[in-house]
Amino acid sequence: MIERILSMKQFQTWAEVDLDAFHSNLDLYRDLSHKTVMIVVKANAYGHGDAYMSRCANTWGYDHFAVSSLEEAIHLRNNGVTGMILILGAIIPGLAHVAIQHDLSVTVPSMEFVTELYEDLHGLKCHIKVDTGMNRIGFHDADEIREAIKILESRGASVEGIFSHYATADEPEKPMMNTQFLKFRETVNSLDHSFRYIHMANSDGVFHNPDETFTNMIRPGIGLYGYADHPDLKPVLSLYSSLTLVKKVHAGETVGYGASYTASHDEWIGTMPIGYADGWDRKNASRYVSVGGEICPFAGRICMDQSMIRLPYEIPVHTPVELFGKDIPLTVCAKELDTIPHEILCRIAERIPRFYTSAKKTVHLSEERFHYDL
Ligand SMILES: Cc1ncc(COP(=O)(O)O)c(C=O)c1O
Repeated sequence: MIERILSMKQFQTWAEVDLDAFHSNLDLYRDLSHKTVMIVVKANAYGHGDAYMSRCANTWGYDHFAVSSLEEAIHLRNNGVTGMILILGAIIPGLAHVAIQHDLSVTVPSMEFVTELYEDLHGLKCHIKVDTGMNRIGFHDADEIREAIKILESRGASVEGIFSHYATADEPEKPMMNTQFLKFRETVNSLDHSFRYIHMANSDGVFHNPDETFTNMIRPGIGLYGYADHPDLKPVLSLYSSLTLVKKVHAGETVGYGASYTASHDEWIGTMPIGYADGWDRKNASRYVSVGGEICPFAGRICMDQSMIRLPYEIPVHTPVELFGKDIPLTVCAKELDTIPHEILCRIAERIPRFYTSAKKTVHLSEERFHYDL
């Protein structure tokens, strides 16, 4: 089926997800940290496709996952993902029974959360969140945590983990990371409770943090997709479109909405079916793409579903165009857009099909909606 789809050139815009790169990044984190890797697959696995990436990880022997919401967690379970799924965000306490039904682990973010839970908590798996400086969610006070654990356990919940989160892991020169770690260690040690999982480091935290032996689990996200401070990490996703139309535009003519681009001489303009509804930000209008290694600037504004580029000469219709990947690294793209790779990746729209490759062969195509008879 996949070979047929590819041979029919069914898609004009697509993402390629390199499973071998993902697998290699995962193994790198496991081998360097010697800790259990909890794979952060929130936000559709940073745009890579949460269910499929998680199922692949399952087959490679990884079985701990983190998402942001109850809905993301249920989606993974409904799609055959096995092992621990921790919801990092604060769920609505009244929905704790749904977490139990799907065997999900929840974050306990505050005393208010605990008091809003119902009486019988048998089957509920909890990880206590300690706020060591992010000031997002989590407990500040060890006495309060002690009290929360007492209530949770007396009602039948299992407090299996405790964790915190670094605010500046990608800026190791700042002292905050160390301060946060010391606060976390002191808090956990003062609780006199045995936790099965103790975790703090995100992707860069693993490379920069001092918690060598205190924690036994790590929570990398962006690094698994290729972007953190280690030279052996491999980018996983590349984004492509193609030329649907190529036309000559004469000197003085304009291109696109607002007529913001005027051709100074006769030139070739190519149109691609990708726009801001696909997650391709309008700020890209000042940037460029790669057509067979040739750098081509955008012409005019990015439309909702299409955009236009300036070609150096007439290039055949259907020629693939790289938006980021081998020729244009995502890190460069992110820098030029004054953002971070996370944001660009997780904004790639659902309507863009993801092709999963291994050993340079397509092994899977995302989502049922892209599978139809030709
Ligand atoms: C609580 C928590 N842990 C881990 C991560 C993963 O972070 P990163 O993608 O920087 O590795 C995130 C991401 O924002 C997070 O919020």
